[in-house]
Amino acid sequence: MSNPSVLILPGDGIGQEVMAEVRKIITWFGDKRGLNFDVSEDLVGGAAYDKHGVPLADETMAKAQEADAVLLGAVGGPKYDDLDFSVKPERGLLRLRKEMDLYSNLRPAQCFDALADFSSLKKELVAGLDIMIVRELTSGVYFGEPRGIFEEGNERVGINTQRYTESEIERAARSAFELAMRRNKKLCSMEKANVMESGILWREVVTEVAKDYPEVELSHMYADNGAMQLVRAPKQFDVILTDNLFGDILSDCAAMLTGSLGMLPSASLGAPMENGRPKALYEPVHGSAPDITGQGKANPCACILSFAMALRYSFDQGDEATRLEQAVEKVLADGVRTGDLMQSDGGTPVSTSEMGDAVVAALEASL
Ligand code: NAD
Ligand code: IPM
Ligand code: MN
Repeated sequence: MSNPSVLILPGDGIGQEVMAEVRKIITWFGDKRGLNFDVSEDLVGGAAYDKHGVPLADETMAKAQEADAVLLGAVGGPKYDDLDFSVKPERGLLRLRKEMDLYSNLRPAQCFDALADFSSLKKELVAGLDIMIVRELTSGVYFGEPRGIFEEGNERVGINTQRYTESEIERAARSAFELAMRRNKKLCSMEKANVMESGILWREVVTEVAKDYPEVELSHMYADNGAMQLVRAPKQFDVILTDNLFGDILSDCAAMLTGSLGMLPSASLGAPMENGRPKALYEPVHGSAPDITGQGKANPCACILSFAMALRYSFDQGDEATRLEQAVEKVLADGVRTGDLMQSDGGTPVSTSEMGDAVVAALEASL
């Protein structure tokens, strides 16, 4: 049997730097755990635009459709700010999500004990935190029509449309309930049913889906209150289900509960393919971080932990995923940290590459 295939799309800025560390981890799993992958690499975002004039070439899209898993770094950067909207780096990532139909975006926010002091919240509020945000990823205001900038009388109007069908809500909700069943059986759905019709429908459909999961305790919250509750008492949540835009914002917010945006991984999953695996793309929640690009300062943990999610959700290697997560935790507990996780008063940060080496060393020590 051939090895499972992994397509690596490092993208732009620190995406390339953090992905280099993931490559070391992939090599280690091949050498030491007999987990071999057919790895190929291609371009996305600004890097693809520079070569092809588009942020995702059709051939790359086709490769992504075929791959057992796609690993993406990050896209975007100031160099591309003035490009036409249709070829901006971010459009490449959105095309991947849409055409692979990756409707369920899992964004876990876990606060490792060693980092409880680094959150912008008090330690006792975040210590032991383990929540999972499920963000609908292929619809809503990101993709709704009509959209555009139009002339209206003597001025212009910018339009985006929040649009959700029942089936789009239902499949995202099912994925969240399934996750809740494997966790603490608590699900909080966030929308704004008080001001948006799409929110009313969202709440109705989620309530209907809940009938198939009687063991799961379902609650509903307006998303603005949800944002407040996330920073007031985040440990009240287990699984949070929300739409594309609210999920984007709430997950960045949740990132700071864990200490740094450089810690947050994600998995974007579609429906199961014939082989039973979901179509899948794994990426850190953070972006290309132009302010620190090229300085060896980026924290590779979010990207490394995204690969751990790939081991778990695409390759049925839950134990090896846990091994990798524990290796990251061990390195942090030993005080090895990149600059985003340093207190202002002390310690010398390690570089991106030193952090990756430390994780490999911790993996080695786990044998
Ligand atoms: P960003 O996530 O790139 O950076 C926000 C802040 O967090 C910066 O100060 C950055 O230095 C810091 N940061 C982010 N990741 C880090 C890491 N791994 N280690 C240490 N520090 C880290 O967000 P932004 O500045 O708003 O966006 C920059 C570009 O990235 C934009 O073009 C945006 O569209 C794009 N973006 C892409 C993705 C993606 O590819 N999935 C996600 C978000 C933003
Ligand atoms: C994210 C990013 C993306 C989004 C951008 C880069 C398209 O912010 O993955 O969180 O808005 O979804
Ligand atoms: Mn975002």
